[in-house]
Amino acid sequence: MPIIAANFKTNHTRKSSAKYISLLSQYLRTNSTARVYVFPSYTALDEYEHLANLHIGAQNAYPTQTGSITGEIGAVHLEEFNIKTILIGHSERRHVLGEKQEHIAQKFEYFKNLGYKIIYCIGEPLEVKEQGLEATLDYLNTQFENIDLNYEHLIVAYEPVWAIGTGKSATIEDIQAVHDAIKQTIKQPLLYGGSVNLGNIEKICALNNVDGALIGSASLEVEDFIKMIENTKEL
Ligand code: 13P
Repeated sequence: MPIIAANFKTNHTRKSSAKYISLLSQYLRTNSTARVYVFPSYTALDEYEHLANLHIGAQNAYPTQTGSITGEIGAVHLEEFNIKTILIGHSERRHVLGEKQEHIAQKFEYFKNLGYKIIYCIGEPLEVKEQGLEATLDYLNTQFENIDLNYEHLIVAYEPVWAIGTGKSATIEDIQAVHDAIKQTIKQPLLYGGSVNLGNIEKICALNNVDGALIGSASLEVEDFIKMIENTKEL
């Protein structure tokens, strides 16, 4: 039973997220085979209907309860809506916003101590990928620095930077090689992300050592997202 996750990034309003989640919940109420995560924007966080197979998470938060960090939200803002799931280390936060491993590891530790389910993202840029598998694995290892890989509520997502939002997913062989290697050290679920869509999700999720998918653009239409859950539920 794969894990299927939608990352809205900077898309969907509060209103359209509510509509999306309501349609998705309707589907999941009678189709309980898949484990589904949705990461809406901060402004769309809310106390949505509780379903055992649907988790609403935050795309980010600052490692504090409250404080003076302009533009960020803290744990109280998540707890207000019973949010206990968070994405940490996403490539856009690392590479667009410049989050460093040290800060990412602090954030991980903070939310781990609060018992959050953490979807921890890793992924190499194109120039590293071009140097081959060994260089890629070395790079990915640096993204595990000071991260407790035995944390019981951890899910790892491998998202090669060059495959995110480009429409060009990694090849089946690339995904297989990296997932096989990561799974030698990590027992927790390992998702693949990067241009996953209706056309490739089944093949990707059927691979050994791929426990699900983290989907950006192709998850934005709820009908498509539901189809992706439907098409992978028997895997
Ligand atoms: P895309 O599916 O748009 O490539 O984004 C992947 C991603 O970054 C999910 O977190």
